[in-house]
Amino acid sequence: WKSLDDMDLAGKRVLLRVDINVPMDGDRVTDATRIERIVPSVTDILAKGGMPILLAHFGRPKGKPVPEMSLSRLVPALESAFGKPVTFVERPSREQIDALPLDTIMLVENTRFTSMEEANDPQMAQFLATLGDVYCNDAFSAAHRAHASTEGVAHLLPSCAGRLMAAELSALETALEKPDRPVVAVVGGAKVSTKLDLLGNLVSKVDVLVIGGGMANTFMAAQGIDVGKSLCEHDLADTAREILGKATKAGCEIVLPVDVVVAREFKAGAESQVVAAEDCPSDAMILDAGPISVERIEVVFEESRTLVWNGPLGAFEIPPFDAATVAAARKAGALTRAGKLVSVAGGGDTVSALNHAGVGEDFSYVSTAGGAFLEWLEGKTLPGVKALGG
Ligand code: 3PG
Repeated sequence: WKSLDDMDLAGKRVLLRVDINVPMDGDRVTDATRIERIVPSVTDILAKGGMPILLAHFGRPKGKPVPEMSLSRLVPALESAFGKPVTFVERPSREQIDALPLDTIMLVENTRFTSMEEANDPQMAQFLATLGDVYCNDAFSAAHRAHASTEGVAHLLPSCAGRLMAAELSALETALEKPDRPVVAVVGGAKVSTKLDLLGNLVSKVDVLVIGGGMANTFMAAQGIDVGKSLCEHDLADTAREILGKATKAGCEIVLPVDVVVAREFKAGAESQVVAAEDCPSDAMILDAGPISVERIEVVFEESRTLVWNGPLGAFEIPPFDAATVAAARKAGALTRAGKLVSVAGGGDTVSALNHAGVGEDFSYVSTAGGAFLEWLEGKTLPGVKALGG
């Protein structure tokens, strides 16, 4: 794929696909990370004499205009991030665009307000292509969607990756395609069922796989351990054993908790105790990995050169069940700061878990992507990336 450096943008209208699907509380953006991360592309396009025309979705309006999902609500947050006014347009025409000065930043209404977007309807892609001279995709986190504004239009205009897209792709490549070995992956979260393909792919790519969170219970149960009342997908025992078998064949070491934090209630400050993994009382549930397991994980990190992290090791939203996630994340952050580890994290709860541990800034790279990060870890080709030529 080409980057913004490869494109002549002087006097060009540049369709810039961004992902500003940010969390909001009323009209207030509660986490502006995705907005901050698109600033370099907007600034570069302007500096090269081009006019950025921002295309983006927000939420899942199901092909209909939904006022609460209008991108007009994001104009103040965008203006404050860019330090420049933003011209919001519901449905622009090329004429209207040509009449505006080149240093305008235009924002087009939610691409998902028509069902043609998600259907990747060629007519919508054609329409979008009439609006610009160049297409730049800076929305890695939406690149797993083959939609008109993420995929279709890329085939109709000279196309390139934006700064954030390029940074995401290069971080992921460093972590899994050409990593410094040994490579350790941490995969946590509640359910194995949502991460089957991901686990299956990772065991053939990494040297050590640390499994944590609720999904570790399923693996422990599959090995004959009684996990009491813990969250556990008993019907996936065979699948879990298959993954363990695949790991053995591929020479990937699996690290499961050897001790666990158990409680009878799942609430903040609930009375808890640490027991050996095989000693979970039948009326209790496992809510975190124990201190011996954390020590083991820390040693694995010390022995590794590259870390890929997705998902928390315990029920980190409710203290004290955040202890293992916080300790392991801090260790990874410290090793990264010391230049001993390249650490890449992303997907769903991961970023909030790292921020909760206060180490979001210490990691080498924290992806803005949720679903796209997971699909990339699954080894899938992302249509939005493929359409850019790689
Ligand atoms: C995300 O928030 O992960 C992206 O914006 C994609 O959103 P979607 O899952 O609604 O396609």
